[in-house]
Parts: sequence; C-alpha cells; structure tokens
Amino acid sequence: MLRAEGLNQYYGQSHILRDVSLNVPKGRCVCLMGRNGVGKTTFLGCVMGLLPQRKGKIIFNGQDVSRLKPEKRATLGFGYVPQGRQIFPILTVEENLKLALPYRLGGGKELPSLIFELFPVLKDMAKRRGGDLSGGQQQQLAMARALVLNPSLLILDEPTEGVQPNVVSEIIKVVRRLVDEGLTVLEVEQKVPVAQKVGDFYAIMERGQIVAEGVMADLTEDKARSLLSV
Ligand SMILES: Nc1ncnc2c1ncn2[C@@H]1O[C@H](COP(=O)(O)OP(=O)(O)OP(=O)(O)O)[C@@H](O)[C@H]1O
Ligand SMILES: [Mg+2]
Repeated sequence: MLRAEGLNQYYGQSHILRDVSLNVPKGRCVCLMGRNGVGKTTFLGCVMGLLPQRKGKIIFNGQDVSRLKPEKRATLGFGYVPQGRQIFPILTVEENLKLALPYRLGGGKELPSLIFELFPVLKDMAKRRGGDLSGGQQQQLAMARALVLNPSLLILDEPTEGVQPNVVSEIIKVVRRLVDEGLTVLEVEQKVPVAQKVGDFYAIMERGQIVAEGVMADLTEDKARSLLSV
C-alpha cells in the first residue's frame, strides 16, 4: 500500500535520513520505533510531503506520489495526526471535528457516528473547548479529526506520548479495531509494550537509518531493549 524507497533528508548540512526504505502493507499496522531525535518525525514529514526529500520515492497504491503536495496526498487517502496533537484550543470539540468535514473523502454533511463510537468521550465533551480537554482527550480528538477525512492510510506520530495509561489502552484498542477492519496504519511509537499490542510489524530507526525490522511477534523484550538502548 505504502512504500518508501531510499529516502534522504537534510536540514541544512546535517544529513537526517539516510536511505530509509519502509513498506506498510494494506490493512496492517507498522510501528516505527527509535529513540528521541533519530528522525522518526522527519520520516513522516517526507511521507506526507510536508518536507522535500532530496532522494528517494514514496509509492502509494502503485503510484509515485513523491512530487505531490500534502493536500493532494490527503485526497488520495493519507490521514496524518502530527506529534503533539495540534488541535484548535479555542474551538469546541465539535467545531474541531466539523472543520475536517468538507474534505471528507466520499463526502457527507454529518460527522460520521463511528468517531463517537470509537471515542465516546468526544460526544460528552462536544461543546467543550479543545484546549480544556486533557492531553489524552486532545489526542483522541486529533485522531477523530483525521478519521473524519475517511483516510485509507492513517499516520500517527507518538499518539500515546504524555497520555494517561487508561487512555493509552483506549487508543490501542481503537487503532487495533481500525486495522482489523481494513485501515492501514503507520505509527511512530517509542513505547515497546504499546507497539507490541498495536503493531503487526516493527521497524527500528537509529540515526536516520532503519537498523532492524520484522514481524512484531519476533520483537522480544530483550531484543527491543538492546536495539533501543544507548
Ligand atoms: N526544522 C529542523 N531544523 C533543523 N534540524 C531539525 C529540524 N527538525 C528536526 N531537526 C533535527 O533532526 C533530527 C531528527 O528529528 P526528528 O524530529 O525527526 O526526530 P524524532 O525521532 O521524531 O524525535 P522525537 O522522538 O523526539 O520526536 C534531530 O536531531 C532534530 O534535532
Ligand atoms: Mg518525533
């Protein structure tokens, strides 16, 4: 479904991504793991087209999308939830969600009931301002807003970062349900236990390179610790 081939990315003189290739099969969840600052968010920026990549390709459903703008990729089915949420704090939950509605693939005038089924808390909080929600609730709102777009590929950047444990479990359940229903997910995830619950495949990044990858069932605690430690 999604394939990155030989991506290279630079900030000024520093070479951040070095020949990164990654495959995300349809209807599966791939967790991209790695310590702080190794280039995970930069990689997602290239996948979404928010950053120019100097070398390499992004292939989506057989189409080379490397030169397409982020908006164009969104119309092809890319949904993106950036790190740190980025919801509109002074708008209500409902307004935050409705902003995405005109861009929904396949159209629709009403918010899809699925998002309230997945995140019941958003129904209870519909009239509250986004900024008044807890960190975990804001993350759920950001995910719900991406789902309003009806994407076929959902890209999540550390959705459980700074989120309380009960909400982490809810987020895991939602992602797993969506994947089991056919959505394709690329999730950046630093927490090994979360990745083990949510992912079908893992890839570990170290200083801008993928240094290990495979099926999640093969990622033992020991292996993860040795690959993710300093
Ligand atoms: N706009 C920028 N200009 C210059 N350097 C940057 C910029 N954004 C990120 N970097 C650097 O690029 C490297 C990779 O950053 P990136 O945000 O991709 O890492 P990350 O793996 O997502 O980290 P984290 O786990 O902390 O989110 C880091 O060394 C970072 O300091
Ligand atoms: Mg990051």
